Order: sequence, then structure tokens, then C-alpha cells
Amino acid sequence: MQRAQSTLPRVYVTRSVPPDGLEILRNSGQVQFEMWDSDDPVPREELLKRVKGIDGLLCVLTEKIDAELLDAAGPNLRVVSTMSVGYDHLSLSELKKRGIRVGYTPDVLTDAVAELTVALLLCTSRRLTEATHEAKTGGWGTWRTLWLCGYELANSTVGIMGLGRIGLAIAERLKPFKVKKFIYTDVAPRPELANQIQAEYVSMDEMAKQSDFLVVCCALTPETQGICNKELFSKMKKTSIFINTSRGGVVNQEDLYDALATGQIAAAGLDVTVPEPLPTSHPLFSLKNCVILPHIASASFTTRNAMSSLATNNLLAGLRGNAMEKELKL
Ligand code: DGY
Repeated sequence: MQRAQSTLPRVYVTRSVPPDGLEILRNSGQVQFEMWDSDDPVPREELLKRVKGIDGLLCVLTEKIDAELLDAAGPNLRVVSTMSVGYDHLSLSELKKRGIRVGYTPDVLTDAVAELTVALLLCTSRRLTEATHEAKTGGWGTWRTLWLCGYELANSTVGIMGLGRIGLAIAERLKPFKVKKFIYTDVAPRPELANQIQAEYVSMDEMAKQSDFLVVCCALTPETQGICNKELFSKMKKTSIFINTSRGGVVNQEDLYDALATGQIAAAGLDVTVPEPLPTSHPLFSLKNCVILPHIASASFTTRNAMSSLATNNLLAGLRGNAMEKELKL
């Protein structure tokens, strides 16, 4: 734990942040800060104690910023800056009620997330984890005609659930694989993005029916909670691949398990689950056709440093009363 004594605004940092952001914070001379200097989350009890009287909070997605925490912090708190593009861990209504400004980190992670999503999609559709396991454990016999066959992107229809910055970046990367058609769903058509990849706006039903690859890119909101469920999976093709790098809460995991175990869909690749970490005893881990990653979509050195810099700059700008580079409109 690091602590400095002065009359400068007090900031609590809930996790050891990547060096670029930390350097900005240290060199700013604008705040005194205390940091939970660990790679693991600060225990809730500790967090509730540490935030008392702070002016600013820099957090990551594992911290629930709710009424209890904001009450514990008290009336000085005027800026919360999260080192994430997702903000489902923040109670926006409570923040708004208290007039607390919120910074977040869109854009800087788009490339890393899109890249990882493509990697996960290919790993799942071409059965790469199964294949390396077979090669390592003696399952590799002779060359066989249909052994470890998967599904290819060429001539496929790719469905994007939630066409924003990340959905677009994924589609741009998939296009050179000779995808035949992109389709998407969202709360409303987004022609300015869709035109860039010639994507067609369709209903959820149509997306389920037509997609050979269905990629979830939407934010977790009350409207999208559990939206990928039995009803959706039952309309998908038996050969289709489901990919989620957004938030685990968008998926009903029991329904996904059933769809995968019964062959209703061919395979799934997940970077996000509920809970995180997903217990190793979870039924999804027992399936060969489910590839699970530990929420690493933005995990490149460049991106995590950029996220920490942006989160820190947002925090400092907010505390100065200036416009933040990326501020959530509450
Ligand atoms: C985010 O920023 O919300 C991602 O899920 C973490 O990379």
C-alpha cells in the first residue's frame, strides 16, 4: 500500500494499475493517492474503509460501485474513473444522483478486443484447443479424412449482436477471410457503421437463423441481460458457432450448455462468464466444443497501458473540473 500525506485531493486506486497510468498519477503533483498495490481485488470491507473521504476513485471492472460504496466514500467524492470500456459494475443512477462524474476507457482497447475475438472465433471454429490436446496426449494417429474438421469463414454469414466500435473492428478483420455477408442487430439501425462493412440490419430471429458465426459485442444492460438464451439457440443452425467477448451476463449459461451438449449449435467461444473466474467444476468446462478464456480480450501490454493512462487522465481532468477525454453522459 502506498500513501502520501498532503492537502491535495485524495484518490483511491483499487488495483495495481499498469505503469503508464501510474506514472501519470505519480508525476501529476495534483493528487495524493493510495493504491491497493496488488494484482488481486481489494477485499470489499477494506475498500469500504479506504474510500472514506476520498475525492476521486480509480477502479477496475471487479469493483461494484454502488450506493453502499458511495455512501462509505461520502460527499467529497466527485469523480469515478474506471479502467474499462464496460460500466455494468457502476450504478449509474446512484452516481448521477450524487452528481459524481464518470470516466471510462473506450476506443483504446478496440483493436486488442477485436483481435482476440477473431482469435477465439478461429480457435473455436477450427477446434484448435481440441487439436493441440490430441497432438500432445497421443490422440494423433494417422491423417484421417474427417478428424477434427470444423467450419470455415469463407462464404459464411457472420452475425454481430451490437454493432459499435468493437463489432465494426471485428467485422473489418473478418472480411479478408471472404465472409459472404454481415448482418447485425442493435437497438436501432446504425447505417454510418454498417455501411463500412455492407452489413444488413436484421431482427434477432433472422440473426439466429442466418448466422454461421454469431458474435456478441453488445454492452450488458437490463435489456441485454440473458438475451442469448434457449429461444435464441433453438433458432440457430446446428453448424453455427457462438462467440462472446462482451459480458457473461448476456448469456444464459444453462441454456448455452444444453445447446452445446445436445448439438443444437456446433461450438462456443467465451472470453467472459458468470461468475468470473468460472469454477473449474462448471459443466461448460466439461464440453469439448466450448472454448473458455479468462477475460483477456484487452490483455496486450500496449492496450492495458493505454487504458491505465486514459483512466488516469480522465480522473485528473475530472478532479480539475475540466472535460474528460472519455466521460460517460449520465
Ligand atoms: C472492459 O474494458 O470492459 C473489458 O471487458 C476489459 O478488457
